Amino acid sequence: MARRLRFSPKSLELTRAHHWQGKRNELLYDILRLEPRHAVVDVGCGTGAFTRILAERLDQRKRGKVVGVDRDARLLAAARKLASECGLSSRIEFRRGDAKSLPFPDGFADRVVCQAVLWLMTRGEREATLKEMLRVCKKGGLVAAVEGSIDTSVTWFPDDPRLTDLYARQTRAMIEGYKRVYGYDRRIGYKLPSLFTKLGLTGARLDGVADARLRLDDRFPLSYTQDVIGLWYLRYPRQLLSKLDRMAGDGARRAYIEKSEPILTAGGMTWKEIIELNRLRIEYGTRLSKGPRAVRHDATVEAGISFITTGIKP
Ligand SMILES: C[S@@+](CC[C@H](N)C(=O)[O-])C[C@H]1O[C@@H](n2cnc3c(N)ncnc32)[C@H](O)[C@@H]1O
Repeated sequence: MARRLRFSPKSLELTRAHHWQGKRNELLYDILRLEPRHAVVDVGCGTGAFTRILAERLDQRKRGKVVGVDRDARLLAAARKLASECGLSSRIEFRRGDAKSLPFPDGFADRVVCQAVLWLMTRGEREATLKEMLRVCKKGGLVAAVEGSIDTSVTWFPDDPRLTDLYARQTRAMIEGYKRVYGYDRRIGYKLPSLFTKLGLTGARLDGVADARLRLDDRFPLSYTQDVIGLWYLRYPRQLLSKLDRMAGDGARRAYIEKSEPILTAGGMTWKEIIELNRLRIEYGTRLSKGPRAVRHDATVEAGISFITTGIKP
């Protein structure tokens, strides 16, 4: 069986938090030409963060509804719980299924969308999934894919140029590493319009919605920033480095890093660079966990573009 990347509900929700909100949602609804009466399918819905954003626009009294589909039962369980906690259960349904054989009849939905799913596929799987999305879309309906391209991502630590360099190095390594290890394309975001056209969708368009996060921005709740720091700058790197500290000799350390970081290794990052990156992450995370003042004075930027490709089913 082919290797497959899996996600934890917690880390998935954390990366989605505060992404779609306010004016950006209006922009999204506009790009998707989404109406309250629409039947929508959200392919590869995960914990349903994007599904919930779509549901907010729909009106069940007008028969508007979104069905999220995913193959991962654990993520779907979290998705059902979260939708219910948000009071959206009457507009959302979740089904287990494969993107390459969606559990819907032809022409089922007005909008068939996905977010951050096509990058997790080989070329063949991507084409099969888009063909399925096209099949379940009504004539005149819209198929849409929201996908990033990590070469448009920026992580800038103004007080730590070496950490900034290593993040840029990590981005380059991810592009190559994901391709080699899984056959995935981390630059898929802006490449989709050509595939949409090839598959017979008409009126292809490409939009981009920027996501910029400034650590000191007080519009991000402190608890969110603390969770991000806790998970990615402390917990994961500490887990990695604490194992290494117990190992004797460079040979064992190198072998362990190459096994636990196959993507970065395949992408050309050396084991020493990976260790340095994680040590600097911990130093940064420790500085920021000193308290709210440390967070509110930190001018670190994380930014990227969500590309949205849309096309009409003829
Ligand atoms: C990065 S997550 C994105 C989840 C969600 N769309 C979001 O943006 O929060 C990718 C999701 O695609 C799902 N997925 C990947 N390949 C799939 C397939 N062939 N069929 C169904 N789900 C799939 C994974 O289980 C995972 O939940």
